[in-house]
Amino acid sequence: MDKRTFLKNAGLMSLGGFIGLDGLTQLIDNVSAIPSSVLAKDEDFWEKIRGGYLLKPDFINLENGYYCFLPQVTLENFIRHIRDVNYQGSYYMRTVQFENKKAMAAKLAALAGCSADELIITRNTTESLDMIIGGLNWKEGDEAIMAEQDYGAMLDMFKQVAKRYGVVNKIVSVPSLPQSDDEIVNLYAGAITEKTKLLMVCHMINITGHILPIRKICDMAHSRGVQVMVDGAHTFAHIKFSIPELNCDYYGSSLHKWLSVPLGAGILYVKKENIGKVWPLIAEGERNPDDISRLNHIGTHPVHTDLAIADAIDFHNMIGAGRKEARLRYLQLYWTDKVRNMPHIILNTPVDPVRSCAIANVGVKGIKPGELGDALFKKYRIYTAPIDGASVHGCRITPNVYTTTADLDVLVKALTELG
Ligand SMILES: Cc1ncc(COP(=O)(O)O)c(C=O)c1O
Repeated sequence: MDKRTFLKNAGLMSLGGFIGLDGLTQLIDNVSAIPSSVLAKDEDFWEKIRGGYLLKPDFINLENGYYCFLPQVTLENFIRHIRDVNYQGSYYMRTVQFENKKAMAAKLAALAGCSADELIITRNTTESLDMIIGGLNWKEGDEAIMAEQDYGAMLDMFKQVAKRYGVVNKIVSVPSLPQSDDEIVNLYAGAITEKTKLLMVCHMINITGHILPIRKICDMAHSRGVQVMVDGAHTFAHIKFSIPELNCDYYGSSLHKWLSVPLGAGILYVKKENIGKVWPLIAEGERNPDDISRLNHIGTHPVHTDLAIADAIDFHNMIGAGRKEARLRYLQLYWTDKVRNMPHIILNTPVDPVRSCAIANVGVKGIKPGELGDALFKKYRIYTAPIDGASVHGCRITPNVYTTTADLDVLVKALTELG
């Protein structure tokens, strides 16, 4: 083996056989001139990315929507942070805890393309969005708009403000296969009245993977004097965008999903002019009304998770947001295109690339989603998320960057045979 090959292999094989950041750097350097759309189909390249993960061999995990577990390099750094905080004890908590968290929030703001004084680190999307729903100055008779396909935790919080303040919740149903952006925009526009105060909308509907035309919905709502809160649980670090370009008022996401941060981290973005309008869920000491740290008091929490955010961002940036998005969309279309025209298959996800990325939902005629999920798992060792509600009936299929087309061939075989 020549010296160059040896060094290359040494980098790739750091971390006890798993690819580390050095190995990743070399790998990416070698493909930097290749367009994302071409690299998306390069199985050899993505096989090396897969080499950075410890995968449970018992099944094919196509349920990365709940939680996208960490590549080994982030996991090792996370463990190092746990050791370090444990070693320093209260000294860490009383000295650098808050400045470190602020530095992590600034890195996230850079990734989100927003100003650092408009973003805080929360524990998850639920905390981020429920803080807004619960923290606005509601009056009896105010109206809020949401969709039946929205996430249960937020719908529950809206039910609570309805009981508590007499807010009226208007619930629309988003079609899984829309004809145009206008169809979606008009659906929300039709629910607005002069009493509407807040419109909640998913950036990507979690049960179908449907990406909604958020900018158009925000512009329409603002022209009618309505604020928009976006549930971005499934889009941050999945598709490439900046929060300001969406023109929303509030945005929440979970970092343990597509950024592969250890469990229990999220973001809340609040447009500067709105910060003073929100009551925090947990009160903070005296601050300026437009200081977003007012909304960020959570007490003592696992601060080592905050520290791992930088490692997860490094991993994400190293692969590159554009390359990741292109690969994830390619993987979805790889299997959906193969089954789309089978008479027994129902796809509940739009085919248009601007309306979907990694996630898609598939049903088999005559088989209940739970039974389909069981058959996929027991007979084919494929783990998915069955969905049977909100007008959606099928299994949610969620690959990640470590998923191979060979994994998806097993899914296609299963769906073909289950007909
Ligand atoms: C659309 C959507 N919103 C909110 C959430 C809640 O995320 P978390 O449990 O991380 O707060 C999820 C979780 O899957 C989701 O899919």
